Amino acid sequence: MEIGIDKIGFYAPHMYLDMNKLAVERNVEPEKFTIGIGQEKMAIAPITQDSVTLAANAALNILDEEDKEKIDFVLFGTETGIDHSKSGAVYVHRLLGINPNARAVEVKQACYGATAAIQMAKGHIALNPESKVLVLGSDIARYGLKTGGEATQGAGAVAMVISAEPRVMRFEGPSAFYSDDIMDFWRPVYSDKAMVDGKFSNEQYISFFTKVWKQYKEKAGLSLEDFEAICFHLPYTKMGKKALRAVIEEASQSVQERLMDNYQVSTEYNRNVGNIYTGSLYLSLLSLLEEKEDLADGSLIGLFSYGSGAVGEFFAGRLQPNYRDHLFTEKHDELFGTRKEISVEEYENMFEETLPSDGSSIELDIDADPAPICLSGIKEHSRQYVNKQRDVSTLSGGDSR
Ligand code: CAA
Repeated sequence: MEIGIDKIGFYAPHMYLDMNKLAVERNVEPEKFTIGIGQEKMAIAPITQDSVTLAANAALNILDEEDKEKIDFVLFGTETGIDHSKSGAVYVHRLLGINPNARAVEVKQACYGATAAIQMAKGHIALNPESKVLVLGSDIARYGLKTGGEATQGAGAVAMVISAEPRVMRFEGPSAFYSDDIMDFWRPVYSDKAMVDGKFSNEQYISFFTKVWKQYKEKAGLSLEDFEAICFHLPYTKMGKKALRAVIEEASQSVQERLMDNYQVSTEYNRNVGNIYTGSLYLSLLSLLEEKEDLADGSLIGLFSYGSGAVGEFFAGRLQPNYRDHLFTEKHDELFGTRKEISVEEYENMFEETLPSDGSSIELDIDADPAPICLSGIKEHSRQYVNKQRDVSTLSGGDSR
């Protein structure tokens, strides 16, 4: 049975910060951010968006009524979840009106969560071929104002429907994976900002990649030339390039050029959104699929997932016949085209505006946020979410469930 990605979409908040302008304010050369780190724009989440709403907005864009009926498992990969106990998946399940006879679970291992979710989804579909699984990767990356990690923040979510007979990409061959208990990046439960040993994290990312790539080659009997492109987890777009460079000399000159050219295309969306942690690898895959118009059906795409702390995995997927017909490129073009630039001062104010942490209630202005699904406040310790589309249709007598 073929199992893979049947649908894939993403959502990023409607505001962004220009990295050139951040560089000027931080007194560094803009080229450090745009070339050295490789980021142009950073998505900024308003207070009315959290990992739940970002994920729900990403999924809302791609699900139809048949999906909502057939999805019986919602797997929510995140490292910026909103509750220590209840999963973000349960909120998304309700906000989207998914079949109540479904499982809903959160998966955590830093930026590896969505990949772990995909592997679980594969097992579920193998046992239940009629099922569909909704896999979400959603995060807001926060390091802090004027920190070393500041230029590598971002916000957004990717949603994927995993099913049998997938229309976009079928997973093919083995996976190679590796875990080790290291402190390169982590976030203690008392902190809303990540701790990071930046240089060490870069080294470990490359080291994990070379280990799983070596293991993958032995397991799969494949080499670089078998891949049309390799997509990477992208905390910033220079990172994947460094990892690819560590192995690229195994390939002929023409294969090196192809992989490097396609790598560049696969970074386009990430370059304009920033790090979205768990969804970053899949945002890069989306960038490759939607931005490279001549990417042939049947191409084999390598995928490297890295979640600090750390787990790394390399696996692959083959593009299905006419896969381009099943992408949501226009919706994503519109999303990028309607974003609004904010100043560094506005970004700093938004960064400092956080939800109460003392248990008090708050009401938020959701009219300022064009997203269909928003956080409207906190009441009696419980986050209040609104699906504007459904509320409007309910008011007029309909019900989108
Ligand atoms: N023109 C062009 N390039 C320039 C430049 C200029 N004027 N000035 C500097 N540069 C280059 C530097 O040469 C350097 O390039 P190389 O890495 O190729 O050597 C690059 O810009 C960055 O410069 P620095 O190393 O001096 O940057 P920094 O010390 O400010 O920190 C960072 C960079 C470590 C990535 C930091 O932003 C950080 O800690 N980010 C968060 C951690 C992270 O993203 N780690 C990645 C691996 S972990 C992971 O993948 C999980 C995850 O999602 C977090």
